[in-house]
Amino acid sequence: MSASNPGCQTQLLANVFILVGPGGVQSDLHIVDMECYNTFGNIWGLYLGRQAYLLLTDTEIIHKVFVEDNGKIFASAKTHRSKCPVSESFFQPDNDDWRRIHQILAPAFGPTQLRQKCGSYLQYLLDHEETKMEKGKKSLPTSATLTEDEVVAQAVGFLLRAYQMATHTLEFVAYLLARHPSVQHQLQQEVHTAIKQQGFTYENIAGMEYLDMVVMETLRLFPPVVWLQRTCQKLVEVCDLKISRGIQVTVPVWVMHHSREFWDHPCRFDPLRFTREERDLRDPVCYLPFGLGAFSCIGSEFSVMMVKVALASILTRYRFTWCSQTPMYLDIETLGVTRSKIPITLQIELL
Ligand code: HEM
Repeated sequence: MSASNPGCQTQLLANVFILVGPGGVQSDLHIVDMECYNTFGNIWGLYLGRQAYLLLTDTEIIHKVFVEDNGKIFASAKTHRSKCPVSESFFQPDNDDWRRIHQILAPAFGPTQLRQKCGSYLQYLLDHEETKMEKGKKSLPTSATLTEDEVVAQAVGFLLRAYQMATHTLEFVAYLLARHPSVQHQLQQEVHTAIKQQGFTYENIAGMEYLDMVVMETLRLFPPVVWLQRTCQKLVEVCDLKISRGIQVTVPVWVMHHSREFWDHPCRFDPLRFTREERDLRDPVCYLPFGLGAFSCIGSEFSVMMVKVALASILTRYRFTWCSQTPMYLDIETLGVTRSKIPITLQIELL
């Protein structure tokens, strides 16, 4: 790996021991990333075992690797396969399988489909199962079908992923609303007015602008996934930066979401960052809770809708407030899905 990007302060192969300490791999990945970013600038590298990682916050390179390349040289990093059907879910397949599965599943998450229930997604999977295989004979799936294992994996993976992600996000929103009563008040007014006029419908929830802004800002402050990765498949030069085969090109999402380079007062909870006008002014690469490009999340709209429905229904009857056990600051763990290290206790008041 070599780098000669003139505009970037470049220092590759930072000390790996900050990530792998005596107690194992650090769970505070976001803190390590922030420290590296503050020390080395917008490109740095590290090894985990023999695997080299190139970390980038340079928006131009990120755009080229994650969006323009479209998965040709920089493949999905999830290449490990196992016999377990669950681990053969969408989160694990190799590059060729990924293309086939992605093509089949992406339409299931369009806005029309989101109006329907989870059960219709399961039916959708079953409709695409390879049924023409002769009993006992193992044949390769066609480009339009899924194997039985893949159907099981997608169904289980979908439910686990959807609930896990939605639960953590809801926990953070509730905490932020309790801490920011004026935001909660404004949100409650929007929810009350909309529900009173049009009831609890998909269109109604989807049309609540402030609710959307609150959820987006929560996902900025607490992105559920803090590393986006692509595997470089051959030596290539991107913006004067030579990247060798096998390197894991990584975007430290927490840094992108908390850098002063991209956000004013980045630690402040401010849903107004997500007005239509503000969004249009910003480079989309700065905000990546669902990744970007060819391998970005296909469940994003579904999960966001799930969080919004839950939140809107709670806020019609209750408000979140602080109590003596509510932590003043959150201690966050970011290895795996981002979550609080201790349970977040809040008080819920009936309106
Ligand atoms: C708050 C909820 C969620 C968040 C924040 C989230 C975030 C992400 C992120 C960051 C990625 C990696 C994207 C990249 O590398 O560019 C991803 C991939 C993916 N997500 Fe989600 N996700 C969520 C919920 C879901 C749900 C409910 C599903 C259900 C099917 C899902 C399905 C997927 C799939 C299939 C991929 C892999 C896409 C591919 O490799 O082409 N996600 N998600």
